Amino acid sequence: MKASVLRLGVNIDHVATLRNARGGGVPDPLRAALLAIEAGADGITAHLREDRRHIRDGDIARLKAHISKPLNFEMAATDEMVKIALATRPHAACLVPERREERTTEGGLDVVGGHDHLKRISAELGRAGIVVSLFIEPESKAIEAARSIGAPVVELHTGAWCNAVAAGDTARATSEFARLKRAAEAAAAFGIECHAGHGLDYDTARQISALRQVVELNIGHFLIADAIFIGLGPAIHKMHAAMTAGRAGAVVL
Ligand code: PXP
Repeated sequence: MKASVLRLGVNIDHVATLRNARGGGVPDPLRAALLAIEAGADGITAHLREDRRHIRDGDIARLKAHISKPLNFEMAATDEMVKIALATRPHAACLVPERREERTTEGGLDVVGGHDHLKRISAELGRAGIVVSLFIEPESKAIEAARSIGAPVVELHTGAWCNAVAAGDTARATSEFARLKRAAEAAAAFGIECHAGHGLDYDTARQISALRQVVELNIGHFLIADAIFIGLGPAIHKMHAAMTAGRAGAVVL
């Protein structure tokens, strides 16, 4: 079997973080999205948080109107966000947990406890033709719940693994990677499309690209950070190269 396609979704939230630090219009997240697409991004991801700390409503509308690649709208499973998603009609919506006090999305959704609520919202978005993904911990219980919810896609939270790699904790990194691998296999076995993201850099993106069940990576903070030093286009080229190298070394059955 041939290794499957692997897409790169570029998350531009932190271009908006930088813009908002000064309150003006620069840097413009739409300009970053257009540049990212020119450099080979397969899609653009943006998270409209309840507190609008980075992306704002107007950014989402402009992205939807002007980008030529799929828009992945990250959102909390709230009535307010569902209303915005239904009005915007992005290609995809990734449901994420949100806590006001967190710095970033620190864990996956509680898909077991929130099962009925998530099922209702996923169905509503799905009926509007929006591809729903659930951002989950790489656990079999979460995959089973996602299946029961009827989500066509899951995005595996790679944060715990990336943190272990960054801390140089080889034992924990190995067990976290094994958890991701099992989860990716379980998702594929249920016919659920598997994405991954959070905390990825060139090295971890290369490693996770070896999991052939994973067909999309969503990467933000590291790309925007490295863009400060080498430019956004070159950072995206480097990321694609890392993903291609990881995929080429994939164990293909
Ligand atoms: N995927 C999801 C669902 C996320 O919430 C985030 C962070 O906003 C990312 C991917 C990207 O994470 P990072 O910015 O650490 O690359």
